[in-house]
Amino acid sequence: MGVLLPLKKISDDRGHLCILEEGRDVPFPIKRVYYMYGARPDMPRGFHAHKKLRQMAVCVTGSCRMVLDDGKMRQDVMMGPSTGTVMIDARVWHEMHDFSPDCVLLVLASDVYDEADYIRDYEQFKQEIKNV
Ligand code: TYD
Repeated sequence: MGVLLPLKKISDDRGHLCILEEGRDVPFPIKRVYYMYGARPDMPRGFHAHKKLRQMAVCVTGSCRMVLDDGKMRQDVMMGPSTGTVMIDARVWHEMHDFSPDCVLLVLASDVYDEADYIRDYEQFKQEIKNV
């Protein structure tokens, strides 16, 4: 299941410096980085799980609500610059809701983009996790 992890941060008079290092803060090789911005509060995103991909999400600015569902439990996580990172493991259904207009959601991923790794149908997701 996804978890909220503390984000390494060095703060001083000049502001905050946040750090994510492979093998230290990120438990997988970082093969891809992508980010979302300009999302709308009334236009949720996600609504899928991945078969193998592991991801870590950071809300760099603004806020949004992440829904994580491992088939047994559904969890709501409010995300913002100081709330830490959210680990989205393989076979976790995730949705992003309530984006603030200034939200920038950065995602580190363990592999390059592969549409074949997506499960976009919730019923199929329930079947797949039963078969593991
Ligand atoms: P998708 O993962 O479906 O985003 P969301 O679930 O937030 O709506 O991606 C949207 C589109 O972008 C989809 O056509 C796949 C494409 N895409 C890439 O080509 N490369 C990527 O790294 C990602 C994340 C998406």
